[in-house]
Amino acid sequence: MKGISRTTLHKIRDTPSGERDEAMKILVAIDGSKDAAKGAVLALEMAKTQKAEVTLLAVIPLYPEIDLEISARARNSLENKLSAQAEKALGEAQRTFKAEGIEPKSLIVSSGAVADEIVKTAEEEKSDLIVIGGRGLGATGRFSLGGTAMKIIGQARCSVLVARAD
Ligand SMILES: Nc1ncnc2c1ncn2[C@@H]1O[C@H](COP(=O)(O)OP(=O)(O)OP(=O)(O)O)[C@@H](O)[C@H]1O
Ligand SMILES: [Mg+2]
Repeated sequence: MKGISRTTLHKIRDTPSGERDEAMKILVAIDGSKDAAKGAVLALEMAKTQKAEVTLLAVIPLYPEIDLEISARARNSLENKLSAQAEKALGEAQRTFKAEGIEPKSLIVSSGAVADEIVKTAEEEKSDLIVIGGRGLGATGRFSLGGTAMKIIGQARCSVLVARAD
């Protein structure tokens, strides 16, 4: 497996006494980007080889009223579009797993603070590892790490794996 060694994964699950705990839990943040899709593939490998339990999470971004001086109708249409985009991205990631006979838990939530929501979900799910892409759909090419990714790395209490498609 590329990116992370078996030894590292085992260590992540090691209890202080050295005993192995139950299966490692991985939260994969899905936004429909190529990097996030690569993250799903890496998590799938860990599910297959380490029997890791995978949860896929897509967050529908909510924008505060004050940021958007648009009509209620335009706002509604934007929200529908973002929601459809998140569902599509989650569906594609689910299919990657199902093709290998694995059914991941899938979550879709709306939030005005995407990174906070991902970190909070990881805590609620007691995830050992958060898998994210280095860039997302907003990739402009100027930075190699997106704003959401940067916040997650800064705030997460567990390990974070940053996937790169190319
Ligand atoms: N709405 C979201 N739902 C779930 N995961 C997300 C979402 N947005 C970003 N991510 C995760 O964070 C990773 C990095 O995306 P990020 O948003 O940081 O980059 P970007 O879109 O290129 O930059 P920015 O948003 O700062 O313009 C994605 O590959 C994905 O794993
Ligand atoms: Mg983004």
